[in-house]
Amino acid sequence: MIKITVPATSANLGPGFDCLGLALDLYNDFYIEEIEEGLVIEGCLEEFKNENNLFYVSFQKALSELNEEVKGIKIIFDSRIPLKGGLGSSATCIIGGILGAFAIKGIEIDNDKVLKIAKTIENHPDNIVPALLGGITVAVIENEKVYYEKFTTSESFQFIALSPDIELSTEEARSILPKNISLSDGVYNVSRAALLAMSLSKGNKENIRVACNDKFHQNYRGKLIPDFFDILDFAKENGAITSFLSGAGPTIMIINEKANNELEGKLKEYLNNCKRKWKISVLNLEVDGAKINNYK
Ligand code: HSE
Repeated sequence: MIKITVPATSANLGPGFDCLGLALDLYNDFYIEEIEEGLVIEGCLEEFKNENNLFYVSFQKALSELNEEVKGIKIIFDSRIPLKGGLGSSATCIIGGILGAFAIKGIEIDNDKVLKIAKTIENHPDNIVPALLGGITVAVIENEKVYYEKFTTSESFQFIALSPDIELSTEEARSILPKNISLSDGVYNVSRAALLAMSLSKGNKENIRVACNDKFHQNYRGKLIPDFFDILDFAKENGAITSFLSGAGPTIMIINEKANNELEGKLKEYLNNCKRKWKISVLNLEVDGAKINNYK
């Protein structure tokens, strides 16, 4: 069998809507093998065991782009990333399926080609690029091609993911956003996104704090998430560098200095008194991106 491992991602990073993203050391594994005929899917909910499965759709799309086919395919999911949680579970299926098509046919991975196919399935690059490449990424799409830069940040930073026991689909979280923005909001976000990328690469905490603010989406989406604004305030008051809505939510991502090791305990206590149940995961930046084992 071929094993494909794809990291979780956190998109937007506050002001970088549809553009900035990063990979985390939490993974989904997918195992695939060619079979005599048909489609067999194991290890996931019944509702995903069919031809609409996002991994399978991405796999087939890539095979067709590569002018290849398989007799049949068995896919086994071993997932740790919550569904509809704002941690890029869909991107792992898209990148995993496309890499699986390359791998099963023994075709050398071409990142540009992988992203070109991926963007036909998810038309914003802030999850698919870090899922493939790891690290922190800035990405745009121009004329069907994904252009990106990858970098890392200070090793003294950790990423604390707070995930409530609710699901929020990206479609729903996008549908509530205004269709137009004002020039002043545009300037607010574009200047902060640029400063944030540069400041993350240098580990400049003071700049990150100022830069990681947003007027495009968080104020709207935050209202769908119980205690969102209070939790952001609490993290800040307790020494977090910054916090933001992870992707389309509902996970909240906190960037914290590892040395501020009391924050996790304080968050635990605080969240225990909130309306919903929250899961806390302390994660690190994943810098290598997706991996394939038993590649033939
Ligand atoms: N940039 C996307 C959004 C992330 O915020 O809707 C989710 O894929």
